[in-house]
Amino acid sequence: MAQLDIINVPDPLLKTKSTPVDKVDADVRRLLDDMLETMYAAPGIGLAAIQVAVAKRMIVMDTAAEGEDKRPQFFINPEVVWESDEVNTYSEGCLSVPEHYADVERPASVRVKYLDYDGNMQEDLMEGLNATCIQHEIDHLNGVVFIDYLSRLKRNMIIKKVQKATKDSVVL
Ligand code: NI
Repeated sequence: MAQLDIINVPDPLLKTKSTPVDKVDADVRRLLDDMLETMYAAPGIGLAAIQVAVAKRMIVMDTAAEGEDKRPQFFINPEVVWESDEVNTYSEGCLSVPEHYADVERPASVRVKYLDYDGNMQEDLMEGLNATCIQHEIDHLNGVVFIDYLSRLKRNMIIKKVQKATKDSVVL
């Protein structure tokens, strides 16, 4: 496994709509493994392939609490097939928007259809943090980052700060 570089806003790739995966083969699984390692190292609880500059509809997630056993989840070509009227608000962050957080309201529960690590079709009802996380990650596959839900003023301020922090830091 290998750690991959995570891209940050305002990289135009983050606005790209990712394309479906045709076949879940060894290359796809290798990328999923690398994405998971990258996410754990960051550390984060979700990562979409576009965040490592691959415009394919693939997501890794692990929403297990600290101290709990790892619970990696893999989603290929995920699709929300149902969402609740009830909503939840979480203070969201994103590995592509380091160190910035904002409240985002989303459906509290969603039913998601996807292919798993072995290429089998699955359908899960997701709730709580899991529901928010999968919606945030599916947004990435459609070129949407959580700061797109904020006012233009707030979004631009965050982007400027991320750009400045990225410019001022040396990555060794
Ligand atoms: Ni994100």
